[in-house]
Amino acid sequence: MCENGLSRVADEEADSDIISRTIEECKIAHQSNPYFTMAEPHMEQQWKYIWPLIKRFSFARVLEIAPGYGRNTERLLEHSQEIHLIDVNPSCIDKCKERFSNYQGKCRLYFYVNDGHSIPEIPSDYVTFIYSWDSMVHFDKLVVRDYIREFKRTLAPKGGGFVHHSNYGRISQSSDWRSHPHCRSNMTKELFVDYCKGAGLDVVFQRVFDWGGEKDLDCVSIFEKPA
Ligand SMILES: C[S@@+](CC[C@H](N)C(=O)[O-])C[C@H]1O[C@@H](n2cnc3c(N)ncnc32)[C@H](O)[C@@H]1O
Repeated sequence: MCENGLSRVADEEADSDIISRTIEECKIAHQSNPYFTMAEPHMEQQWKYIWPLIKRFSFARVLEIAPGYGRNTERLLEHSQEIHLIDVNPSCIDKCKERFSNYQGKCRLYFYVNDGHSIPEIPSDYVTFIYSWDSMVHFDKLVVRDYIREFKRTLAPKGGGFVHHSNYGRISQSSDWRSHPHCRSNMTKELFVDYCKGAGLDVVFQRVFDWGGEKDLDCVSIFEKPA
């Protein structure tokens, strides 16, 4: 193997170490966390910001990444025919199952625990809309990159997605996300566009915003899969 080949293999190994370490850290951090109770009442206000940005999409088959205890799902339910909930933590999926156990509406719910960066249970070209709020902000850029590849695979042509992610990578590229303000990862607005481009998705909208008093800490990106 030539020198370039060797250094590529070393880079890939380093990447896969970062992916597995940060997934495990983020999983443990959310296993039982006062966040879920504290965040619940903020949903009403946050949904007023989110809904106008996403209402034009088809909610026929929705994929929600990292629902936690389901406070966003509760809103998505009102508009969706089918929602697939994917979280790395069995405890979060159990809470969602419990929360919606008496739900009698028209939307069908499906629950999965995943490995933190792939979604093999979802067929290709299937979902019409992908949604994630206040979760991927913590995911390392390499984990976000892996999910974006899965978004391209699972989205139906002309389908779209809405992802809330970190923009803190412009300040630090360290993968030590827990030492950053509000535990934001090394992701950026620009990287999100690059990863989507690399995967074959079009970013059609981005908005950078402050979080917890930190200027330009976060970003929402909306993307579409070409017809
Ligand atoms: C801060 S909570 C947010 C939950 C929910 N989106 C909300 O707004 O209430 C982060 C969630 O991400 C999940 N999570 C962490 N890392 C993950 C990963 N790599 N893949 C999928 N879920 C993950 C956690 O288990 C937790 O449910």
